Amino acid sequence: MAFSLSWACVIFGCIFASLAGTSSISEAYPPLWKESPGQFSDYNVENGKYIINVWHYPERLGTYKILLNKTAKYFEKFAPENEQNILWGLAVQHGWQYHTGRLADPTQTTDCGHESGDHLCISVDSWSADINYYLSAMPFFAAVDSGIMGISSDNVTVLPPSKDQMSFCYNVSSCHSSFPEVMKKWNEFYQHVKSNSSNCDDLLKYLWAAHVSSLEVARKNFHN
Ligand SMILES: *[C@@H]1O[C@H](CO)[C@@H](O)[C@H](O)[C@H]1NC(C)=O
Ligand SMILES: *[C@@H]1O[C@H](CO)[C@@H](O)[C@H](O)[C@H]1NC(C)=O
Ligand SMILES: *[C@@H]1O[C@H](CO)[C@@H](O)[C@H](O)[C@H]1NC(C)=O
Ligand SMILES: *[C@@H]1O[C@H](CO)[C@@H](O)[C@H](O)[C@H]1NC(C)=O
Repeated sequence: MAFSLSWACVIFGCIFASLAGTSSISEAYPPLWKESPGQFSDYNVENGKYIINVWHYPERLGTYKILLNKTAKYFEKFAPENEQNILWGLAVQHGWQYHTGRLADPTQTTDCGHESGDHLCISVDSWSADINYYLSAMPFFAAVDSGIMGISSDNVTVLPPSKDQMSFCYNVSSCHSSFPEVMKKWNEFYQHVKSNSSNCDDLLKYLWAAHVSSLEVARKNFHN
């Protein structure tokens, strides 16, 4: 565990700060960061709910962008410019998945995610995309639930994929009922983010617990 934790420190704590040291700051951000939604009002609204198509790369990336924006004030005490926000790691990893073609349809039966076709599409047949769902939609909904995002839990939903709908959840209440343990762990993390007394090591511990909990459930649903 001590080993895992120091790994977590490396991955989450330093990744952005070190990437930001590269020649151009724009290289540090995930692809299409600037173009992606950065606030709820950038998404479609239907019946008083924001509708997020998390099977479209910029819209899924936008959930991280809003999360980073809304949590920035809690990380100011560690470093300026949101550099020490330990949630950067998740966004950067997702950008890497996109950049390396891991979100495309591996069966090639559709052009989803392929350069020659619908290149922004995220395929439900991509194992990386499915696993990442548990590290994007769930941390996002738990943040909404914890009050950090500044909107009501009933006012946001994500779209289901074209198949395997039972393996995912789509709003705060359905995520709670389908994956209670995962939501609980992410909620605990946000409670500590909100608490002034948490130091960075504490936060990493709670983030790591939530991360592992997401991965355990994801792997159970998508074993291969
Ligand atoms: C949130 O949802 C409720 C219930 O559907 C609705 O009455 C309210 O207008 C919504 N709020 C916003 C800001 O869209
Ligand atoms: C968060 O987003 C708002 C709206 O786009 C922007 O005005 C604000 O500067 C952002 N805050 C941070 C810390 O990035
Ligand atoms: C949440 O999603 C479930 C099914 O996925 C649906 O039955 C329920 O009405 C939704 N709740 C809200 C508040 O949108
Ligand atoms: C937390 O910190 C902020 C700013 O540093 C301060 O305004 C606020 O009063 C603190 N809250 C508690 C409960 O200590």
